[in-house]
Amino acid sequence: MSEAERVVLTGASKTYETASGPTIALSATDLTIEPGEFVSIVGPSGCGKTTLLQLLAGFLSPTDGTVVVGGKAVSGPAADRGVVFQAPTLYPWLTVRGNVEFGPKVRGVAKAERRSRTQAMLDLVGLGDFGDKRPYELSGGMQQRAQIARVLVNDPAIILMDEPYGALDALTRERLQVDLLKIWRRAGKTIVFITHSVEEATFLSTRVLVMSARPGRVIVDRRIELPGDTSDGVRDPGVVATPEFNAIKGELAKAIYDAHG
Ligand SMILES: Nc1ncnc2c1ncn2[C@@H]1O[C@H](COP(=O)(O)OP(=O)(O)OP(=O)(O)O)[C@@H](O)[C@H]1O
Ligand SMILES: [Mg+2]
Repeated sequence: MSEAERVVLTGASKTYETASGPTIALSATDLTIEPGEFVSIVGPSGCGKTTLLQLLAGFLSPTDGTVVVGGKAVSGPAADRGVVFQAPTLYPWLTVRGNVEFGPKVRGVAKAERRSRTQAMLDLVGLGDFGDKRPYELSGGMQQRAQIARVLVNDPAIILMDEPYGALDALTRERLQVDLLKIWRRAGKTIVFITHSVEEATFLSTRVLVMSARPGRVIVDRRIELPGDTSDGVRDPGVVATPEFNAIKGELAKAIYDAHG
């Protein structure tokens, strides 16, 4: 993982101008995310989490301050930053394979190469046998995995995920959490993950940021180390039953409660 993928926000803020006046969604924020980190962002509804993610994605630009990725100011969306949204955004008229292959096709990657990369990504997310299906033939969890494959195929250094598992049932969600940890480990990506679940944030992350109610700012920046953590291992789901896990979860839950003001 190269130095070049570091994310640096310096005094980055975002104010939306609306008919009823300005809304400060994100207060001046200083934040550095190192390559390979798994950072979750939690905080009350409307506190600016999606705004922060969209600044990183390049869908929005800051009102003040700078957002720099890999040494360059972010000036728009780019292939080094893949975004997974909460709602399924697969193209219904394409097969699963067609959806995953779409990005490389648009970028002009030769057919043989994009076919083999697409198959490799489908295999990685456990959809190796579902390439010829249409999105409607997949379950919600499978559609989410197809979306992740569609992002991974472009080999982004950074994956930005906005409540990707919010709409899923608990069992599917737990499976996908472990899948995501495996992908993160194998593919060596940086992940920024928004969630409303403190449990999910604690289980997945190497670091959790808690944001205050609007105007949003980072009020807690907590490194997460859990029993059994190794630099190349994936966390055992059983870790959620340990006192260490519950202590961190309680600490973060209290911070979020206080953040409501
Ligand atoms: N395009 C926009 N125009 C005007 N105001 C906006 C816009 N997008 C967001 N806001 C406002 O900015 C604030 C932060 O919104 P944002 O979507 O970043 O919150 P969030 O933390 O992602 O919330 P949630 O958890 O509900 O998804 C909110 O007060 C919202 O009303
Ligand atoms: Mg949001």
